[in-house]
Amino acid sequence: MNEKTVDLHVLMCVCGGIAAYKAVEVLRLLQKAGCEVRVASTQDGLRFVGSATWEGLVHRPTPTSLYGWAESSIPHIYLSEWADAVLVVPATANTLAKMATGIADDLVSSTLLAVPSEKPMLVAPAMNVHMWRSAATQQNVETLKARGVRVVMPVEGHLACDAIGEGKLAAVEDIAGAVLEALGSREDADSSRALVGRTVLVTAGPTHEAIDPVRYIANRSSGKMGYAIAEQAARRGAKVVLVSGPTMLDVPEGVRRVDVVSAAEMYDAAVAAFDEADIAICAAAVADYTPAKPADHKLKKAYEHLDMLELVETRDILAALGSLKEAGGKRRYVVGFAAETDDLIANAFKKLEHKGCDLVVANDVSRTDSGFGSDTNHVSLLSASGVEELPTMTKTEVAARLLDAIERSLFIAS
Ligand code: PMT
Repeated sequence: MNEKTVDLHVLMCVCGGIAAYKAVEVLRLLQKAGCEVRVASTQDGLRFVGSATWEGLVHRPTPTSLYGWAESSIPHIYLSEWADAVLVVPATANTLAKMATGIADDLVSSTLLAVPSEKPMLVAPAMNVHMWRSAATQQNVETLKARGVRVVMPVEGHLACDAIGEGKLAAVEDIAGAVLEALGSREDADSSRALVGRTVLVTAGPTHEAIDPVRYIANRSSGKMGYAIAEQAARRGAKVVLVSGPTMLDVPEGVRRVDVVSAAEMYDAAVAAFDEADIAICAAAVADYTPAKPADHKLKKAYEHLDMLELVETRDILAALGSLKEAGGKRRYVVGFAAETDDLIANAFKKLEHKGCDLVVANDVSRTDSGFGSDTNHVSLLSASGVEELPTMTKTEVAARLLDAIERSLFIAS
């Protein structure tokens, strides 16, 4: 976890779930990291952890209702203005639903509605697996994410209700780390503007290598990781060119997409766009081999056999961009991905060196919650300054953390 002392205000909203006791530990971690923490609890939250506990830890009376707080007669406005970041932990299905729909019928929901949109807001959900997977909760979570709320995703495990599955509160260190990260990126506001006006080239998705007019060689890349990077970079003010293989995804807002099919087409499009680029991020799963002589007619099963399928190596786009990064007297920042099932870090370091990258995202693709097709990813960021392993998080969150790291490097270099 980030050890930096931040001395900033964190408002913790505690809801009524068995995981509320872990909120105590999150509070202690944030205090140890130098944050001033205040607590607002729902009435149900108080059934799990009482106000005496919060007051003992926070050293001041803790409001638990919209009425009767000595410090302010309008506690929801006071707290929403006081906070630099707001964390809801544990976030119950009920509170997520209230946040998504704007219901303000108690201290916590009124405070959450009153928080200005530019302040970091985080939710750490915890609930029964079926409540978590329900269409209503999933839709509410998506709505909140789309509004910029950071979701510290629950993990799989043995739940208090005896079910086994997703819905367990994330590790307290990950929750506190996410808050510090959110505060840190706000604190480093100057460096977080490093992408404004820069041109970012992103490759995403699979490539399709034609065998004949109807068959091709492909892989399981959905494009989600690369599209999340493109979307986040555009939101940070970058001009984004997304060179994309075939996917089912919509073009993110503010992004120019160049559609390609094969590795050769992706190579040409990426090299052409690289001239203008300041940063290139290669998240595509490019085929390493392609049929040497794709047939111009549909191959017949009866007399044409697979052993005639001679494959030749494709050109490596990332390595080409790495070798061109100082072309034209301009210094570009190049990021590669390393999709690995074993020896993740060692293999990723080889790619950092051999492909001329400034940073490599080592992507563990041996897990079901990470890599190809999934909504979450488990990665480590590797550069000359070391390795940072990130917890499993959504691809949008991975994209944000990757861009934070790039912004910090650009800011330091500028
Ligand atoms: O698309 P999703 O379903 O969201 O899945 C995301 C992902 C798993 C595809 C993504 O996170 C990822 O790991 N992308 C890299 C996949 C890959 O092909 O890795 P690699 O280790 O084989 O290649 C290393 C790097 O070289 C990559 O940056 C790749 O884009 C690049 N490369 C590889 C071959 C080639 N001919 N040209 C390249 O540019």
